[in-house]
Amino acid sequence: MRESKDFTEPALKTLFAGDFRIGAAVNPHTIRSQGHLLAYHFNSITAENEMKFERLHPEEEVYRFGEADELAAFARKHGMAMRGHTLVWHNQTSEWLFADGKGGTVSREALLERLESHIHKVVGRYKDDIYAWDVVNEVIADEGEELLRPSKWLEIAGPGFISAAFEFAHAADPQALLFYNDYNESHPHKRDKIYTLLKSLLEQGVPVHGVGLQAHWNVYDPSLDEVRTAIEKYASLGLQLQLTELDMSVFRFEDRRADLKAPPAELLELQAQRYEAMFRLLKEYREVISSVTFWGAADDYTWLNDFPVRGRKNWPFLFDEGHQPKAAFHRLAGLKG
Ligand code: GLA
Repeated sequence: MRESKDFTEPALKTLFAGDFRIGAAVNPHTIRSQGHLLAYHFNSITAENEMKFERLHPEEEVYRFGEADELAAFARKHGMAMRGHTLVWHNQTSEWLFADGKGGTVSREALLERLESHIHKVVGRYKDDIYAWDVVNEVIADEGEELLRPSKWLEIAGPGFISAAFEFAHAADPQALLFYNDYNESHPHKRDKIYTLLKSLLEQGVPVHGVGLQAHWNVYDPSLDEVRTAIEKYASLGLQLQLTELDMSVFRFEDRRADLKAPPAELLELQAQRYEAMFRLLKEYREVISSVTFWGAADDYTWLNDFPVRGRKNWPFLFDEGHQPKAAFHRLAGLKG
């Protein structure tokens, strides 16, 4: 691995200093294994899993803050910003939250009280470390005409859980920027539904300040035009935008091939072209995009190594497995203006 003194290329955070913050998702392992890379190139972090409900609050009376605290300390030590991820989600959420302890389901009132107390505790604790929270993650249904995906939240509390979460977060830290975060955010059907949700929240006076475009993209999809239209549509609501989980898979989503041991040169070139075109586009919208966070930092560690094909390696980032800059990095370093 590279030591601090080995980093001589321009830092990403400096290259884009006039545009947006450059972030990475981290965990207690990668702040060690990728520590030098993170400190040199990035000025923002997000906890990959450590601030999710099930990790922070496994039982009603038990909070576990150790790992999340460690990540916040890493951000403080390196003068990095930190995003909070995530308060309300249908995944990675403890079962007890929805249960009444007697084999049944909790009431709507009790669920919202539990949510309020969770948000108060968590957002309050990281007030001085976290400037922006993903308050609600992925509530929009991918397919069909239904706006909201089925979930325990919806089933028990009705759609009001969404505005309640934003109200609770705003009360817990009135300074924090509050985001709605989702994937497939640039696909027209989902984009329009996300827009509809945000518009209705804003019309109700709900304290929502931004939209997180997860940006789990690949080298073929979404198209530049789709991304541009999505940015303009969300920005027309007066919200700020952040890319929150960017990665650029070298496989189409439907592609199940698992034979590649190393990324072929032509795929890396395609990836470099895509990164260059995407960042050129993002820079055009620097007035409304305040941060671009990758869902990892370098190709030695990515959740895509197991998703959607278990055990298949992927190479989605700007830095390779040895933390050396890839072709994509050099293209971004060459962007002007
Ligand atoms: C979603 C979540 C993230 C993460 C990714 C997969 O995008 O928002 O927290 O779990 O899935 O790693």
